[in-house]
Amino acid sequence: MVTPPSRPAGGDAAARADDMTRERRRAGNTTEDATATVTARLAGAAKYRDVHPDTIADVVAGQRDGTTDPAELERRSRARLHKVAALHLLTGRLAALRRGMDKADLAGMAEPELRAWCREVLAAHVSTGERLPDLDRFYPAVLDLVPPPATIADLACALNPFTLPWLREHTDAGYTGYDLNAGFVGLAEDFLTRVYPGSHAEQRDVLVGSSLPDVDLALLLKTYHCIEDRRRGAALSLVDQVPAAAVVVSFPTRAMNGRAAVFARRHVADLTELADRRGWRLDRATLDTEDLLVITKRH
Ligand SMILES: C[S@@+](CC[C@H](N)C(=O)[O-])C[C@H]1O[C@@H](n2cnc3c(N)ncnc32)[C@H](O)[C@@H]1O
Repeated sequence: MVTPPSRPAGGDAAARADDMTRERRRAGNTTEDATATVTARLAGAAKYRDVHPDTIADVVAGQRDGTTDPAELERRSRARLHKVAALHLLTGRLAALRRGMDKADLAGMAEPELRAWCREVLAAHVSTGERLPDLDRFYPAVLDLVPPPATIADLACALNPFTLPWLREHTDAGYTGYDLNAGFVGLAEDFLTRVYPGSHAEQRDVLVGSSLPDVDLALLLKTYHCIEDRRRGAALSLVDQVPAAAVVVSFPTRAMNGRAAVFARRHVADLTELADRRGWRLDRATLDTEDLLVITKRH
């Protein structure tokens, strides 16, 4: 006697769905297959060589939305990664910065010469370039609003570690910068090792993986809105969860087109509501180029 092939509960429709899944698997065409293929392709692409593999995997997974077509998933993931990695914000070339760093006698530089050299590096990225006119006021504005920190984590730091000469005027707190981009982190770590031993830069996606070390002060400068763009609610949740006594979140006062940065308003409203809900203190300081929100979670 021939036994008929077993059919899953749910009748013909379920059986057809099962057959289709098997068929797609045979053709190497499931959502999981497409995700793995695209993640591997992008991780191997020269353009994203500096982007943390965790970021690539997370972005591709976030773009799946049921698609089994690797080409479509790759197109969506590239568009999203372009924004997440924000490589367009680097106005110079990392290779040129690296050559400049290799040639510079950093340890032998007097303070004014070191600051002038750092200003040139900071100018190579839109974010820190914009900060230059406010640099002398920046750390006093932040540190006036928080208890003296012993440890600082600069989340999504890009080239901000090159502001250490200005930070060190006000505090000896241990400093660690985190960024998903190995290019920035490599430059920053080299600089810190040579000029500020004990301070570090580490490649890390602050949204993915194990939790960050507990610090007195976390900085999330001009990146909150980028993270919200990547995943709605992720930046708010990062501020909520990050183990820090105080968190500084900043927004540019102007968008890149020169207009007032109105996009920040809803983020400020969300952060204000979070601070209210948690009973945290929220202070604000406004510089010419940057609006700072200082959230004190514990004293
Ligand atoms: C707009 S720049 C801001 C840089 C710096 N905070 C400043 O204000 O000068 C954004 C930087 O955040 C980094 N970034 C974005 N999302 C990140 C994440 N989830 N984890 C780590 N770095 C991230 C990018 O690689 C980029 O260098």
